[in-house]
Amino acid sequence: MPIKNPKVTVVGAGNVGATCAQRLAEKNICDVVLIDIIEGIPQGKSLDLMEARPVELHDRKITGTNDYKQTKDSDVVVITAGIARKPGMSRDDLLKTNAEIVGSVTDEIVKQSPDSIIIVVSNPLDVMTHLSWIKSKFPPHRVFGMAGVLDSARMRFFIAEALNVSTEDVQAMVLGGHGDQMVPLPRFSTVSGIPITELLPPQKINEINERTKNGGIEIVNHLKTGSAFYAPASSAATMVESIVQDRKRIFPVAAYVSGEYGLKDVFVGVPVKLGSKGIEEIIELKLAPEELEALHKSAEVVKKNIAKLSELSLV
Ligand code: NAI
Ligand code: 2OP
Repeated sequence: MPIKNPKVTVVGAGNVGATCAQRLAEKNICDVVLIDIIEGIPQGKSLDLMEARPVELHDRKITGTNDYKQTKDSDVVVITAGIARKPGMSRDDLLKTNAEIVGSVTDEIVKQSPDSIIIVVSNPLDVMTHLSWIKSKFPPHRVFGMAGVLDSARMRFFIAEALNVSTEDVQAMVLGGHGDQMVPLPRFSTVSGIPITELLPPQKINEINERTKNGGIEIVNHLKTGSAFYAPASSAATMVESIVQDRKRIFPVAAYVSGEYGLKDVFVGVPVKLGSKGIEEIIELKLAPEELEALHKSAEVVKKNIAKLSELSLV
Protein backbone atom coordinates (compact mmCIF):
# COMPACT_ATOMS: atom_id res chain seq x y z
CA MET A 1 0.00 0.00 0.00
CA PRO A 2 1.29 3.51 -0.77
CA ILE A 3 2.23 5.53 2.33
CA LYS A 4 -0.56 7.98 3.22
CA ASN A 5 0.50 11.67 3.32
CA PRO A 6 4.19 10.79 3.23
CA LYS A 7 6.72 12.99 5.01
CA VAL A 8 10.28 12.86 3.74
CA THR A 9 13.28 14.50 5.42
CA VAL A 10 16.36 15.42 3.41
CA VAL A 11 19.41 16.00 5.61
CA GLY A 12 21.93 18.37 4.07
CA ALA A 13 20.64 21.35 2.08
CA GLY A 14 23.63 21.47 -0.23
CA ASN A 15 23.73 20.62 -3.92
CA VAL A 16 22.36 17.07 -3.72
CA GLY A 17 19.98 17.67 -0.80
CA ALA A 18 18.33 20.83 -2.10
CA THR A 19 17.98 19.41 -5.61
CA CYS A 20 16.50 16.21 -4.16
CA ALA A 21 13.96 18.31 -2.20
CA GLN A 22 13.07 20.10 -5.44
CA ARG A 23 12.66 16.84 -7.38
CA LEU A 24 10.46 15.34 -4.64
CA ALA A 25 8.19 18.38 -4.40
CA GLU A 26 7.90 18.70 -8.17
CA LYS A 27 7.07 15.01 -8.49
CA ASN A 28 4.20 15.94 -6.15
CA ILE A 29 4.65 12.81 -4.06
CA CYS A 30 5.43 13.98 -0.49
CA ASP A 31 5.94 16.90 1.89
CA VAL A 32 9.62 17.58 2.46
CA VAL A 33 11.63 18.77 5.46
CA LEU A 34 15.04 20.08 4.45
CA ILE A 35 17.49 20.27 7.34
CA ASP A 36 21.09 21.48 7.53
CA ILE A 37 23.56 22.50 10.19
CA ILE A 38 24.01 25.94 8.61
CA GLU A 39 21.41 28.46 9.74
CA GLY A 40 19.44 30.12 6.96
CA ILE A 41 20.37 27.80 4.08
CA PRO A 42 17.55 25.26 4.44
CA GLN A 43 15.08 28.05 5.34
CA GLY A 44 16.06 30.15 2.32
CA LYS A 45 16.09 27.26 -0.14
CA SER A 46 12.76 25.92 1.12
CA LEU A 47 11.09 29.31 0.86
CA ASP A 48 12.47 29.67 -2.67
CA LEU A 49 11.06 26.22 -3.55
CA MET A 50 7.69 27.13 -1.99
CA GLU A 51 7.60 30.30 -4.08
CA ALA A 52 8.06 28.12 -7.19
CA ARG A 53 4.90 26.16 -6.30
CA PRO A 54 2.44 28.40 -8.19
CA VAL A 55 4.54 28.04 -11.34
CA GLU A 56 5.34 24.35 -10.94
CA LEU A 57 1.72 23.65 -9.99
CA HIS A 58 1.95 21.59 -6.82
CA ASP A 59 0.94 22.18 -3.21
CA ARG A 60 3.60 20.16 -1.44
CA LYS A 61 5.01 21.72 1.71
CA ILE A 62 8.78 22.19 1.90
CA THR A 63 10.02 23.18 5.36
CA GLY A 64 13.56 24.40 5.95
CA THR A 65 14.98 24.01 9.44
CA ASN A 66 17.99 23.43 11.69
CA ASP A 67 15.84 21.70 14.31
CA TYR A 68 15.37 17.91 14.18
CA LYS A 69 12.03 18.20 16.03
CA GLN A 70 10.56 19.35 12.72
CA THR A 71 11.59 16.06 11.13
CA LYS A 72 9.49 14.05 13.61
CA ASP A 73 7.73 10.98 12.22
CA SER A 74 9.29 11.11 8.79
CA ASP A 75 8.55 8.08 6.66
CA VAL A 76 11.78 8.32 4.68
CA VAL A 77 15.03 10.17 5.48
CA VAL A 78 17.63 10.88 2.79
CA ILE A 79 21.08 11.65 4.23
CA THR A 80 23.15 13.89 1.98
CA ALA A 81 25.04 15.69 4.76
CA GLY A 82 28.79 15.64 4.45
CA ILE A 83 31.72 17.08 2.63
CA ALA A 84 33.35 16.23 -0.67
CA ARG A 85 37.09 15.49 -0.82
CA LYS A 86 39.20 18.62 -1.10
CA PRO A 87 42.78 18.93 -2.39
CA GLY A 88 45.25 17.57 0.16
CA MET A 89 42.62 15.47 1.90
CA SER A 90 43.05 11.70 1.97
CA ARG A 91 40.16 9.26 1.53
CA ASP A 92 40.59 8.39 5.20
CA ASP A 93 40.21 12.05 6.17
CA LEU A 94 36.97 12.17 4.18
CA LEU A 95 35.81 8.92 5.73
CA LYS A 96 36.48 10.24 9.24
CA THR A 97 34.80 13.63 8.73
CA ASN A 98 31.73 12.21 7.02
CA ALA A 99 31.47 9.33 9.50
CA GLU A 100 31.22 11.85 12.33
CA ILE A 101 28.54 13.78 10.42
CA VAL A 102 26.53 10.73 9.28
CA GLY A 103 26.82 9.16 12.75
CA SER A 104 25.43 12.22 14.54
CA VAL A 105 22.72 12.74 11.88
CA THR A 106 21.60 9.12 12.26
CA ASP A 107 21.33 9.51 16.06
CA GLU A 108 19.00 12.49 15.59
CA ILE A 109 16.91 10.72 12.96
CA VAL A 110 16.39 7.69 15.15
CA LYS A 111 15.21 9.86 18.05
CA GLN A 112 12.60 11.63 15.94
CA SER A 113 11.62 8.96 13.39
CA PRO A 114 12.19 5.50 14.85
CA ASP A 115 10.12 3.82 12.12
CA SER A 116 11.67 5.59 9.16
CA ILE A 117 13.49 4.21 6.15
CA ILE A 118 16.98 5.71 5.72
CA ILE A 119 18.56 6.25 2.30
CA VAL A 120 22.23 7.22 2.61
CA VAL A 121 23.83 9.31 -0.14
CA SER A 122 26.93 10.71 1.63
CA ASN A 123 30.30 9.34 0.55
CA PRO A 124 32.12 7.03 0.86
CA LEU A 125 28.68 5.57 0.18
CA ASP A 126 28.92 1.92 1.15
CA VAL A 127 30.81 2.69 4.38
CA MET A 128 28.45 5.51 5.39
CA THR A 129 25.49 3.20 4.79
CA HIS A 130 27.08 0.57 7.03
CA LEU A 131 27.71 3.19 9.71
CA SER A 132 24.16 4.55 9.59
CA TRP A 133 22.82 1.00 9.87
CA ILE A 134 24.99 0.24 12.92
CA LYS A 135 24.11 3.54 14.60
CA SER A 136 20.38 3.28 13.87
CA LYS A 137 20.01 -0.34 14.99
CA PHE A 138 17.29 -0.51 12.30
CA PRO A 139 16.77 -3.76 10.41
CA PRO A 140 18.81 -3.74 7.17
CA HIS A 141 15.74 -3.58 4.95
CA ARG A 142 15.22 -0.05 6.33
CA VAL A 143 18.77 1.29 5.77
CA PHE A 144 20.40 1.31 2.36
CA GLY A 145 22.45 3.49 0.05
CA MET A 146 21.93 5.29 -3.25
CA ALA A 147 24.63 4.61 -5.83
CA GLY A 148 23.50 1.94 -8.28
CA VAL A 149 20.58 4.00 -9.58
CA LEU A 150 23.03 6.79 -10.40
CA ASP A 151 25.74 4.55 -11.83
CA SER A 152 23.25 2.67 -14.00
CA ALA A 153 21.59 5.95 -15.10
CA ARG A 154 24.99 7.10 -16.31
CA MET A 155 25.49 3.83 -18.15
CA ARG A 156 21.99 4.09 -19.65
CA PHE A 157 22.79 7.55 -20.96
CA PHE A 158 26.09 6.42 -22.49
CA ILE A 159 24.37 3.45 -24.19
CA ALA A 160 21.57 5.64 -25.56
CA GLU A 161 24.14 8.11 -26.86
CA ALA A 162 26.21 5.35 -28.53
CA LEU A 163 23.18 3.83 -30.26
CA ASN A 164 21.35 7.09 -30.92
CA VAL A 165 18.17 5.73 -29.31
CA SER A 166 15.78 7.10 -26.70
CA THR A 167 17.04 6.71 -23.11
CA GLU A 168 13.50 5.59 -22.29
CA ASP A 169 14.15 2.21 -23.91
CA VAL A 170 17.55 1.64 -22.28
CA GLN A 171 18.06 -0.30 -19.06
CA ALA A 172 21.42 -0.97 -17.43
CA MET A 173 22.66 -2.84 -14.40
CA VAL A 174 25.66 -1.76 -12.33
CA LEU A 175 26.43 -3.72 -9.17
CA GLY A 176 29.13 -3.57 -6.49
CA GLY A 177 30.50 -0.74 -4.39
CA HIS A 178 30.29 2.90 -5.43
CA GLY A 179 33.92 3.25 -6.45
CA ASP A 180 36.50 2.31 -9.05
CA GLN A 181 35.62 -1.36 -8.59
CA MET A 182 31.92 -1.05 -9.44
CA VAL A 183 30.64 -3.77 -11.78
CA PRO A 184 28.76 -2.70 -14.94
CA LEU A 185 26.93 -5.71 -16.38
CA PRO A 186 26.50 -5.43 -20.18
CA ARG A 187 24.76 -8.84 -20.34
CA PHE A 188 22.00 -7.41 -18.12
CA SER A 189 21.88 -4.06 -19.93
CA THR A 190 19.30 -3.84 -22.68
CA VAL A 191 17.59 -1.70 -25.29
CA SER A 192 13.92 -2.69 -25.43
CA GLY A 193 14.89 -6.11 -24.09
CA ILE A 194 17.83 -6.64 -26.48
CA PRO A 195 21.11 -7.11 -24.57
CA ILE A 196 23.67 -4.47 -25.59
CA THR A 197 26.13 -7.29 -26.22
CA GLU A 198 24.10 -7.90 -29.41
CA LEU A 199 23.99 -4.24 -30.39
CA LEU A 200 27.45 -2.84 -29.73
CA PRO A 201 30.98 -4.12 -30.44
CA PRO A 202 33.02 -5.28 -27.40
CA GLN A 203 35.38 -2.31 -27.63
CA LYS A 204 32.52 0.21 -27.42
CA ILE A 205 31.02 -1.71 -24.50
CA ASN A 206 34.39 -1.55 -22.71
CA GLU A 207 34.52 2.20 -23.28
CA ILE A 208 31.00 2.56 -21.82
CA ASN A 209 31.94 0.41 -18.81
CA GLU A 210 35.03 2.52 -18.11
CA ARG A 211 33.19 5.82 -18.56
CA THR A 212 30.51 4.59 -16.17
CA LYS A 213 33.12 3.65 -13.54
CA ASN A 214 34.66 7.11 -13.89
CA GLY A 215 31.32 8.93 -14.14
CA GLY A 216 31.76 10.72 -10.82
CA ILE A 217 35.27 11.97 -11.47
CA GLU A 218 34.36 13.08 -15.01
CA ILE A 219 31.88 15.57 -13.51
CA VAL A 220 34.31 16.65 -10.75
CA ASN A 221 36.92 17.39 -13.40
CA HIS A 222 34.46 19.71 -15.13
CA LEU A 223 33.03 21.38 -12.00
CA LYS A 224 36.34 21.55 -10.07
CA THR A 225 34.66 22.85 -6.89
CA GLY A 226 32.16 20.09 -6.25
CA SER A 227 30.69 16.83 -7.49
CA ALA A 228 27.62 15.77 -9.48
CA PHE A 229 24.25 16.59 -8.03
CA TYR A 230 21.46 16.66 -10.64
CA ALA A 231 21.63 12.95 -11.50
CA PRO A 232 22.37 11.94 -7.88
CA ALA A 233 19.33 13.94 -6.67
CA SER A 234 17.10 12.40 -9.37
CA SER A 235 18.34 8.95 -8.39
CA ALA A 236 17.60 9.41 -4.68
CA ALA A 237 14.19 10.95 -5.46
CA THR A 238 13.20 8.02 -7.67
CA MET A 239 14.06 5.62 -4.84
CA VAL A 240 11.89 7.67 -2.46
CA GLU A 241 9.07 7.56 -5.01
CA SER A 242 9.19 3.78 -5.25
CA ILE A 243 8.98 3.59 -1.44
CA VAL A 244 6.26 6.13 -0.69
CA GLN A 245 4.09 4.96 -3.59
CA ASP A 246 4.90 1.29 -2.94
CA ARG A 247 5.86 0.97 -6.61
CA LYS A 248 8.05 -2.11 -6.00
CA ARG A 249 10.54 -1.02 -8.64
CA ILE A 250 13.74 -2.99 -9.14
CA PHE A 251 16.90 -0.94 -8.64
CA PRO A 252 20.53 -1.65 -7.86
CA VAL A 253 20.91 -0.39 -4.28
CA ALA A 254 23.68 -0.60 -1.65
CA ALA A 255 22.00 -3.27 0.46
CA TYR A 256 23.11 -5.47 3.34
CA VAL A 257 23.74 -8.95 2.01
CA SER A 258 23.62 -12.03 4.19
CA GLY A 259 24.51 -14.87 1.84
CA GLU A 260 23.20 -13.54 -1.46
CA TYR A 261 25.82 -13.77 -4.22
CA GLY A 262 27.98 -15.68 -1.73
CA LEU A 263 28.55 -12.41 0.16
CA LYS A 264 27.93 -11.75 3.83
CA ASP A 265 27.89 -8.87 6.31
CA VAL A 266 28.59 -6.11 3.83
CA PHE A 267 26.66 -3.32 2.11
CA VAL A 268 27.14 -3.65 -1.62
CA GLY A 269 25.18 -2.76 -4.73
CA VAL A 270 22.73 -5.51 -5.71
CA PRO A 271 19.31 -5.42 -7.44
CA VAL A 272 16.46 -5.07 -4.95
CA LYS A 273 12.71 -4.58 -4.94
CA LEU A 274 11.86 -1.25 -3.26
CA GLY A 275 8.42 -0.77 -1.72
CA SER A 276 6.78 0.85 1.27
CA LYS A 277 8.60 -1.49 3.67
CA GLY A 278 11.98 -0.60 2.17
CA ILE A 279 13.93 -3.46 0.61
CA GLU A 280 11.34 -6.17 0.06
CA GLU A 281 13.58 -8.59 -1.82
CA ILE A 282 17.17 -8.94 -2.97
CA ILE A 283 17.22 -10.33 -6.49
CA GLU A 284 19.97 -12.82 -7.30
CA LEU A 285 21.04 -12.67 -10.93
CA LYS A 286 22.72 -15.72 -12.44
CA LEU A 287 26.13 -14.13 -12.85
CA ALA A 288 28.87 -15.60 -15.03
CA PRO A 289 32.00 -16.62 -13.05
CA GLU A 290 33.94 -13.49 -14.10
CA GLU A 291 31.01 -11.22 -13.19
CA LEU A 292 30.70 -12.85 -9.77
CA GLU A 293 34.46 -12.57 -9.24
CA ALA A 294 34.30 -8.83 -10.04
CA LEU A 295 31.43 -8.39 -7.57
CA HIS A 296 33.39 -10.20 -4.86
CA LYS A 297 36.47 -8.04 -5.53
CA SER A 298 34.35 -4.92 -5.26
CA ALA A 299 32.81 -6.15 -1.98
CA GLU A 300 36.32 -6.84 -0.62
CA VAL A 301 37.25 -3.19 -1.19
CA VAL A 302 34.09 -2.11 0.66
CA LYS A 303 34.91 -4.48 3.54
CA LYS A 304 38.41 -3.02 3.85
CA ASN A 305 36.95 0.47 4.04
CA ILE A 306 34.34 -0.61 6.59
CA ALA A 307 37.18 -2.01 8.72
CA LYS A 308 38.64 1.51 8.82
CA LEU A 309 35.61 2.61 10.85
CA SER A 310 36.80 0.53 13.79
CA GLU A 311 40.50 1.26 13.12
CA LEU A 312 39.64 4.97 13.43
CA SER A 313 37.41 4.23 16.49
CA LEU A 314 34.32 5.50 14.65
CA VAL A 315 32.08 2.57 15.61
P1 NAI B 1 27.37 20.00 -0.49
O1 NAI B 1 28.62 20.46 0.15
O2 NAI B 1 26.76 20.83 -1.55
O3 NAI B 1 26.25 19.80 0.65
C1 NAI B 1 26.49 19.14 1.86
C2 NAI B 1 25.61 19.80 2.92
O4 NAI B 1 25.73 19.03 4.12
C3 NAI B 1 26.04 21.24 3.24
O5 NAI B 1 24.96 22.13 3.06
C4 NAI B 1 26.46 21.15 4.70
O6 NAI B 1 26.19 22.33 5.47
C5 NAI B 1 25.62 19.96 5.18
N1 NAI B 1 26.07 19.40 6.44
C6 NAI B 1 27.33 19.19 6.89
N2 NAI B 1 27.31 18.68 8.13
C7 NAI B 1 26.02 18.52 8.46
C8 NAI B 1 25.36 18.03 9.62
N3 NAI B 1 26.04 17.57 10.67
N4 NAI B 1 24.02 18.04 9.63
C9 NAI B 1 23.31 18.50 8.58
N5 NAI B 1 23.88 18.98 7.46
C10 NAI B 1 25.22 19.00 7.42
O7 NAI B 1 27.64 18.53 -1.01
P2 NAI B 1 26.78 17.70 -2.08
O8 NAI B 1 27.29 17.94 -3.42
O9 NAI B 1 25.33 17.95 -1.79
O10 NAI B 1 27.16 16.19 -1.65
C11 NAI B 1 26.75 15.68 -0.41
C12 NAI B 1 27.35 14.30 -0.17
O11 NAI B 1 26.82 13.37 -1.08
C13 NAI B 1 28.89 14.23 -0.34
O12 NAI B 1 29.43 13.38 0.65
C14 NAI B 1 29.04 13.64 -1.72
O13 NAI B 1 30.28 12.99 -1.90
C15 NAI B 1 27.88 12.66 -1.72
N6 NAI B 1 27.43 12.22 -3.03
C16 NAI B 1 27.15 10.90 -3.19
C17 NAI B 1 26.66 10.41 -4.37
C18 NAI B 1 26.30 8.96 -4.50
O14 NAI B 1 26.16 8.48 -5.61
N7 NAI B 1 26.10 8.24 -3.42
C19 NAI B 1 26.48 11.29 -5.54
C20 NAI B 1 26.76 12.68 -5.27
C21 NAI B 1 27.23 13.11 -4.04
C1 2OP C 1 29.38 10.66 -7.97
O1 2OP C 1 29.46 9.49 -8.38
C2 2OP C 1 30.43 12.04 -6.21
O2 2OP C 1 29.76 9.82 -5.74
C3 2OP C 1 29.52 10.95 -6.50
O3 2OP C 1 29.17 11.60 -8.73
